[in-house]
Amino acid sequence: MAEISIAVYPGSFDPITNGHVDLVQRTLRIFDRVIIAIAYNQEKGGALFSVDERMATVRKVFESEERVRVDSFQGLLVDYAEAVSAKVVIRGLRAVSDFEYEFQMATMNRRLKPNIETFFMMTSESSFYISSRLVKEVAGLGGDVAAFVPEVVLDQLLEKFPRP
Ligand code: PNS
Repeated sequence: MAEISIAVYPGSFDPITNGHVDLVQRTLRIFDRVIIAIAYNQEKGGALFSVDERMATVRKVFESEERVRVDSFQGLLVDYAEAVSAKVVIRGLRAVSDFEYEFQMATMNRRLKPNIETFFMMTSESSFYISSRLVKEVAGLGGDVAAFVPEVVLDQLLEKFPRP
């Protein structure tokens, strides 16, 4: 029987945006399964949503897609990927500014575990300017972010930042 191809899509997803959703959908065209892995990222601090909240939200967004699994992880990404039998890590690239950080991370991950490959996907032209950070900033300042996030996230943002 042919081996099932599994890709891990790691990140903070605080919150998940339409850019992330687009990337997952495109990844599903290439891999059999995608595991969206939400990192307990101490370094970043100051998250708007808890990891549990983010997991529940992402599950809701992909509830009709049985090839998507949602999980969280602590520790090294490459150890997590190996533990779930994924050979590939997916990362999105929006602009040149993403490149240096992503290149460093991919290279470090390859040094740590050469059998795990990082695949970069170009974000679609409709979402290259969307980031979780900007979505939070705009929503926090009363701006309309309906075009940038799934509906369930929009509701949660409106709860956190009620509009007059
Ligand atoms: O969405 P983000 O915040 O850009 O995602 C960053 C993430 C979670 C992929 C990265 O911080 C990560 O892999 N963290 C896990 C810890 C780890 O493996 N660190 C070494 C990376 S070289």
